[in-house]
This record gives sequence, C-alpha cells and structure tokens, in this order.
Amino acid sequence: MLYSKEDVIHLTAATKSVLSENIENADPIYLQTLKDLIVFHEYRYYVLDEPLISDHEYDIIYKKLQAIEAKHPSWITSDSPTQRVSSDLAGDFPSVPHLRPMLSLENSYDDADLLDFDKQVRKLVGLSPDDDIVYVAEPKFDGGTIVLMYENDRLVRAATRGNGSEGEEITHNAKAMKAIPVKAAFSQSDVSRIELRGEAIIRKSKFYEINKAREEAGLTLFANPRNAATGALRVKDSSEIKARAIEAFIYQVSVAQDAHDREVDIADGRHSKTLEKLGSLGFKVPREVTKICHGIEEVMGFCREWSERRDSYDYEIDGIVIKVDRLDWQEICGTTSHHPRWAVAYKFKAKQATSKLLQVEYQVGKTGAITPVAKIQPVPLAGVTVSSISLHNEDFIQSKDIRIGDTVLVERAGDVIPYIVKSMEELRTGEEQVITFPTHCPSCESLLQRPEGEAAWRCINVTCPAQTIQRIIHHVSKDGMDIDGFGKSFVEKFAELGWLNDISDVYQLDYDAISKLEGFGSKSAENLRKAVDKAKGNPISKLLQSLSIHHLGKRASKLIAEKVDYILDLQYWPAEKYTEIHEIGPVLAQNMIRYFSIPENIALIERLESAGVNMRQTEKDRPSESAADGVLAGKTILFTGTLQQMGRNEAQKLAESAGAKNISAVSSNLNILVVGENAGSKLKKAQALGTVEVWTEEEFLVKVVKE
Ligand code: IVH
Repeated sequence: MLYSKEDVIHLTAATKSVLSENIENADPIYLQTLKDLIVFHEYRYYVLDEPLISDHEYDIIYKKLQAIEAKHPSWITSDSPTQRVSSDLAGDFPSVPHLRPMLSLENSYDDADLLDFDKQVRKLVGLSPDDDIVYVAEPKFDGGTIVLMYENDRLVRAATRGNGSEGEEITHNAKAMKAIPVKAAFSQSDVSRIELRGEAIIRKSKFYEINKAREEAGLTLFANPRNAATGALRVKDSSEIKARAIEAFIYQVSVAQDAHDREVDIADGRHSKTLEKLGSLGFKVPREVTKICHGIEEVMGFCREWSERRDSYDYEIDGIVIKVDRLDWQEICGTTSHHPRWAVAYKFKAKQATSKLLQVEYQVGKTGAITPVAKIQPVPLAGVTVSSISLHNEDFIQSKDIRIGDTVLVERAGDVIPYIVKSMEELRTGEEQVITFPTHCPSCESLLQRPEGEAAWRCINVTCPAQTIQRIIHHVSKDGMDIDGFGKSFVEKFAELGWLNDISDVYQLDYDAISKLEGFGSKSAENLRKAVDKAKGNPISKLLQSLSIHHLGKRASKLIAEKVDYILDLQYWPAEKYTEIHEIGPVLAQNMIRYFSIPENIALIERLESAGVNMRQTEKDRPSESAADGVLAGKTILFTGTLQQMGRNEAQKLAESAGAKNISAVSSNLNILVVGENAGSKLKKAQALGTVEVWTEEEFLVKVVKE
C-alpha cells in the first residue's frame, strides 16, 4: 500500500482544513501540502478507483495550487501536479503510446471564468474585444476517454487515455462498439493515419435498466454510469461492451497525416467542420447539446441553459467543453504542459457530497419487499437537499459495508435519484454500528422471507397494513386505475380515518363525509366521486395492472387482458396459458397463479365487482390490429411546435394507434418528426441529423386517418 492508514487520516484531515480555509499569503509549506493532497487524491481516483472527495473538491484544491504558482512562478517544480497530466493506468493491459499526448482541460465554474478565458484567447490570437470569434460548445461527457488510431482507413488500435502520453490497449473492446466504424474513408481526404479522441459512454436509461436487472438477479450494482462504462473498457471479454450497450462519441482529431507523415487538415480548418466530417464518415459525434457560438456571451447563455437541463439528456455530462473553432487560432493559442489554451471545460455544480448516515428505516413496498432507506444529515446536492437515500437491499449494504454513523459519499447522477457511492472507511472512529437487517415486518411483525434468487426480503402477509396502503396508492395512481386527482396524500388521510382498508373501499367512500373534511368542499368531493365512477369502467388491462401483482407491468397486463374474457377466469389458468403468451416468462406466470390462488385476493376482486368495477374484456382490451400492422408500425415519432387541428395528446394517441412509438427527444433513434407552427430547435436538430423524416401536421393526418 502506497499510503498507510495514518497517512490517510492525516491527509484527510489536511484536505478538510484546506477546503475550509482561505489562505491569502501562502508559504512553501502550504504549497507542499497542496501538492501532496493532489497527488494523494489522484491516486485514490485514478489508480484505486476509490475517491475520498468529490470532483469539485478536488478541483478547488487544484485551483488553489495553480493560483499560488501563478503568483510565485519560481516556486513551480517539475514534479508539481500542475506540470503533468494525471494517470488512469492500472496495468492490466499493455501500454501503447498516443501519437500526440492528451492533455487535460482547464476548468471554469462561472461567467467570470469564461470571460477570463475569452480575454486570454483574444490576447493570444491578437483580437480586439470587438472582433468576432466563434467557439464550439459541446458536451463534456462523463464516461471513459478513448483514443483511436486509423491507418489506411482501418481501425488498427484503440487505447484508454492512461497518463496522457500512453494508454492501455483496448482495441478488442473498441471493435465491439457498434458506434465505432472499423473502416472509415479517411483516404478521401488524403489521410493515411489519423488519431481520434472520444468518450466511451452508456446511456443513463440503459444504466438504470442494467442496474435494475442486476438488482433482481442479486448482483452488485454499478455505482454510476461512468463506472459502468469505464469498467467495461477494461474487461478482457469484449461481450461486456455489447451487454452494457457501450457507445462512443468522437469529439476531436488529435493529428491526421498523409502517406509522407505530413499533417493534413480534413475540414476547412475548423473544429465544427471536423465534427461534421467525422459524422459523415460514420462516427457518432456530439450534435445535441452542441452549439456554434458567436462570442463568449452566447457560450455563457448556453452553459447556463444546460446546467439546468442536463438531466434531460440521456448521457451523463458534467459540463460543457468550449473550443476555439478556428484550428489555426488553436495553433496560435498553443498549450501549457497541462492543458490546451484554446479550450476550457465549464463544470456544472457538484453532484457529489459527503454526509453522515444517521439511521436506517425500513419501508414496506406494495408487493411486500422491504427496502432499507438511509437517513442522512441533510446535504445540498446539485440544487436539492438530500436527506433520505435508498439502500436497495441487504446485499447492497453488505457489499459496500455501510454502517450507521459512517461518513458516506453521496452522488446524484443522471436524474433525481441520489445514491450512496461508498462509506469512507478511513474516517471511522470505531463507534459505527453494523446494520442488521430486521427479521420481522416493521408494519405487521410477520416473519420476513427471502425467496430463492431474489435480493429482497419480503413480508408475505397479504393483509399487512403497510402493504395495503402502498397497494391502494398504486391502485389509484396513473400506473393503476388512473383516478384523476386521487393522490397519495388522500390515500394516507382516508386510511388514517379508517375509510380505506383495502382497494375495494376506494369505491365505497362516503362523499358527504369527505366534503366536510378540512381542505375539501362539496365541489372537490363531487369531482372525486366522478373520477372514481369513471374508473369503474376501465378496461381490465388497467385493473390487472392496478392489483400490485409482483412483476406484472403494463405490457404484460395488456397481453393477458387480450386473452381473458372475465378476470376471475384467471383462477383456472395453468402456467402454460400464461407462458404461451410470447413475452411472458415462468416467473410472472407463477406470480399470477399464486395471486389467484389466495382466497383473500379472490374475495377482494369479488368486492370490487359488486362495487361496480368492470371485470370483463372491453373493446380497448382487444388487440387493435391497426397498431401491430398500422401504417407507422415500428416507427418512432415526435411532435414539435403548435399543432393546429388537434392537441398534442390526441396526436400522440393517433400515432400510437397507428403503431408508432412516441419518444421525447431528437436523436438518431427518431424516425419521424411532425412539425406544427413555430417549430424550433428540434426541427433544426432533425435537419442536421439528416436521418429523420420531417412531416407537416397535414401529412401526418393523411397518413394515419386514411386507413
Ligand atoms: S477535448 C486536449 N472534448 O475531458 C483536450 N474532452 O480532456 C482534448 N472530455 O478525460 C479533450 N468530453 O475524455 C474534450 N467534448 C469533449 C469532452 C472531453 C469529455 C473529457 C476527456 C478527458 C477530459 C479532459
């Protein structure tokens, strides 16, 4: 071990004080402390993959060192962390040199930093404040860097970034990435050898899907999308690349040479054109979250916009990279030993923080699964205060050795769900308590069970009060019977008053009594009654989905509803009848059989029936042939701008019934974009992509209504 336990404690304490104090007049001892800290934290991050501080905290320390060195240039030593690029070499694969060393990027955090950058670029290039300058703003992907080499139009080598000069060879894994062409026509531009840089990355949606599957299979979870991607790069078996759906964006040409090793330009001397050119050669290049900006003000606006919107992008990004568009100007700006002077990274607000785990609570879900939830000292994280975080299941707690009293590293990635990356073992005092999972249900006290092959402990008491409440919440929700205006807080309130003991009570409410409750009135009670009455006529696919049967989702409910006339007939269905339905597996079949063999459940359905809830297959439950072989079958579609003849919802429903799938963003997955009036950026993006069919509202209607 490079650092002893004492070293770690000492350096952690030093980190805390450096982060909390602001030293104006630094001395060489303080300077040395900063250097030691940076080297230490780089080792934790790059070599061990076990950071003790957040990226943002690391950046703060790094900046402090830079500031002192700028003030006292004579103090700079060649071994200073600012004088080299950091390393991710772990030694599992052979190292290969890059054609050009890959530097880091200078970070910026606010408008003032960006203005400084602009000022410096102008000074270096010799521009006055009024002269025009074009910057390209593009996503700062949070994945794993890859460096690709093509010779005579073929991909011959791929490597990680490594220490910047050489990286680990991962050609086999790059070749397994569908987004990386193994052949590309560079020779058209007289190029015989070219080195490209990019980022291997996994979609956030894919990441959640994979983790969910891993959770169900009882496997350890990936901490975040970046780990899932960088981990896959270093696996010997390249089938992992496919299994994790790793993609790759290319954002830079580091050097292109002709047959005589002379440097060639492939795209009119502009970075933006270079990206376009790479795109036309079959590479995946940043198109969304990318903008050609005229002047630094436009850059600032763009950075601000994406700090707010980054969660809506399906790839994890931790900032925006700003690059001078003109390559000759890039050349003039040059580089320091650490970073190019023609580019800067605008970093979004921190998404990691540390906090203390105070206690663990256990929640009972609608199917009885017990979820441990960590209560932590509230901590601000990328705009929200986090105080409560799911710990998933017992294995998660054990594999991470999380204890009560621990200092934990918390991260919010992708969307709004925060999670615990790790416990900081180094900071333990000995007073921490190991978490012991309960043996009995916290609500009804029945003995918990853990079915074989499952990660969750379950309460299997069908009349467990906590489960009942969760099931009622689900029953009335959008994913269940979709009873308009009937939210979680109503369920909790009515249950507290003793009015809701199971889901059939939803249809027996006393609206007179409700109208007298505080915050209600006869009008809202009446609206609720109407909404409940309406739900009684729902198709049985919705009813099935509203029953909280383990693993039974929307799609399977629909498929089963297509095959059954009367819900209670399911009591007599053998497993084969379920598994005959393509897409339904034996696990769900068993769950269905179990549900319909429990007398309490049958009694419940009978109560629903006598309350007037529809139990028979409706028109809506029957397979609509038009959808399966509709004119838009298998297509993805998106509506943008203001539609004139129908609402957005109506249009989406029409599209769906013609077999199309509505998606929410313009990407290479989109087939059809329907534009209403005042269509804006989505239309532009679609046109830039060139692969999307653009229809007017008129054209759309003719297509779908004609049938
Ligand atoms: S440009 C000389 N562009 O940021 C710098 N880097 O470079 C050339 N990164 O780990 C890199 N997105 O993998 C550049 N659009 C982007 C990027 C990007 C992510 C990463 C890169 C490297 C770090 C610093």
